[in-house]
Amino acid sequence: MLALRAFSAPVPRQCLRVAPRAAASWSVSSKYRFYSAGAERVAKYEGTKDAQGNYLVSLIEGDGIGPEISQSVKDIFAAAKTPISWEPVDVTPIIKDGKTAIPDDAIANIEKNKVALKGPLATPVGKGHVSLNLTLRRTFNLFANLRPCRSVAGFKTPYDGVDTVLIRENTEGEYSGIEHVVVDGVVQSIKLITREASERVLRFAFQHAESIGRKKVRVVHKATIMKLADGLFVKTGREVAKEFPGIEFDEELLDNTCLKMTTDPDPYNDKVLVMPNLYGDILSDMCAGLIGGLGLTPSGNIGDECSIFEAVHGSAPDIAGKGLANPTALLLSSIMMLRHMNLNSHADRIEKAIFDTLAEGKALTGDLGGKAKTHEYANAIIAKL
Ligand SMILES: NC(=O)c1ccc[n+]([C@@H]2O[C@H](COP(=O)([O-])OP(=O)(O)OC[C@H]3O[C@@H](n4cnc5c(N)ncnc54)[C@H](O)[C@@H]3O)[C@@H](O)[C@H]2O)c1
Repeated sequence: MLALRAFSAPVPRQCLRVAPRAAASWSVSSKYRFYSAGAERVAKYEGTKDAQGNYLVSLIEGDGIGPEISQSVKDIFAAAKTPISWEPVDVTPIIKDGKTAIPDDAIANIEKNKVALKGPLATPVGKGHVSLNLTLRRTFNLFANLRPCRSVAGFKTPYDGVDTVLIRENTEGEYSGIEHVVVDGVVQSIKLITREASERVLRFAFQHAESIGRKKVRVVHKATIMKLADGLFVKTGREVAKEFPGIEFDEELLDNTCLKMTTDPDPYNDKVLVMPNLYGDILSDMCAGLIGGLGLTPSGNIGDECSIFEAVHGSAPDIAGKGLANPTALLLSSIMMLRHMNLNSHADRIEKAIFDTLAEGKALTGDLGGKAKTHEYANAIIAKL
């Protein structure tokens, strides 16, 4: 018996600007839509200010250590006089038409503000609602997961000077959730790759490379084996590359990337890597390992209209409420958010204070070998602003 099990995803909010075919610099069958082709930026921030001249940002504090690390971000942003007003958002899930959904108020708030900072959300194992992180990704069509990993001075790891930038396709590929039982003991899981989603994330990769001054974009793939699926991703990359003559484009097999990166990560410091979903999930954690783990790793989930920035670690229930949490990952995510909002000078100033505090090593949290409480570490950063 064939039991088809597909994701019961809410209809993604397609916030895509569809450019007319003639505006694109390469042509495909008209049944495919274009995403912000040409000069227009993918995922451009278009938020608005409140009456005080501050940008509104939705804040999902999250579970476990979420409220403690969010407080550090709020304190440091206030001390740095960052022009931001936080709007707290409750994403406690509701069941709508039998499916896990984000409450309407929360959706409306994030849609209005176009940007959110998110603490970790706990996911019940084997019961209850589906991952809220996945639900958020689908609700806002957050098509790209952006993960920069930069070595932190003062925190010794096997390699110094790691500075990788990885972009993962976030909506399809191996995580399309299309699985079925063929017969008892035989299951099939379908990897879905579309030109549409590939083109969108690839164009974002090139635009991001331009915005951070990198001259090389590399697609990581396994088109030697998955000739059609990864083949389409790579082919789309070659076509999008023609729109960006100032950026060098090349391709590398995933296994090669893993081998070379763990042998010598240095040659990856001048590139932006972009890849399908599963490869990005695994490789981004490998990059995080190179700089000392998930506690120091920020990320951005980039959507057509709304983007959500978050630490990649979980809610750490074992240390919640004890003042032991390290807020660095959420702080660095908030720095990415500021840059997304073009508040670059504010981002630079706070980022320098964070890295100086870490390098000095006097007020580190327990996970980095120090004795400081969460708020003591935050105060040390504030003192350096
Ligand atoms: N993006 C997210 O929201 C996200 C990501 C991963 C896990 N989760 C959820 O978090 C919950 C706990 O997951 P887990 O225990 O597997 O992973 P976890 O990341 O919460 O914890 C793993 C270990 O790292 C430590 N740790 C994590 N963040 C830390 C920080 N900022 N400072 C100091 N120590 C830190 C924890 O104390 C724990 O020992 C689960 O419900 C899981 O589903 C959420």
